[in-house]
Amino acid sequence: MTEKTVSVEEVLKHNTREDLWIVVKDEVFDISKFIEAHPGGEEVLVDLAGHDASGPFEDVGHSEDAQDMLRKFYVGKLVKTEGGPQLPTNGSSSDGKDYDSSQPIHPAMWVFVIAMIGAYVAFRMYFIK
Ligand code: HEM
Repeated sequence: MTEKTVSVEEVLKHNTREDLWIVVKDEVFDISKFIEAHPGGEEVLVDLAGHDASGPFEDVGHSEDAQDMLRKFYVGKLVKTEGGPQLPTNGSSSDGKDYDSSQPIHPAMWVFVIAMIGAYVAFRMYFIK
């Protein structure tokens, strides 16, 4: 039996709450029937409708159960054509200013760390003679 293949154009069409396909590692999944049952909420999935969700799916660190669950919604293998359209990869509600999960430490955390070091040095200078 030959495996079903799905084009990028086809995935892009299934971008609504009622008809929701996503791609994880070049495999296409129809999760329209799953979104209400998702323990992580509907919205994250709706935001990724018609998207390549490989990054967000991995970032969450889903359990093996979650990965097995994903298999049930398999539609086919994604085929990309050179020079053809590309799948978006982030949630549509993102304005680009969200926390960048590729950064190991949140930038605001540095301010906190520096403030703590300053407080420690001040404490040593004034109270420990
Ligand atoms: C479409 C395939 C997906 C399936 C089958 C799935 C399944 C699950 C399952 C079973 C859990 C419970 C915890 C676990 O077993 O890991 C979970 C949690 C979660 N999922 Fe997904 N998920 C999918 C996609 C996504 C995507 C694309 C995101 C993107 C952000 C996401 C975000 C989350 C979050 C944030 C939680 C944690 C919820 C909590 O602990 O409160 N999931 N998911």
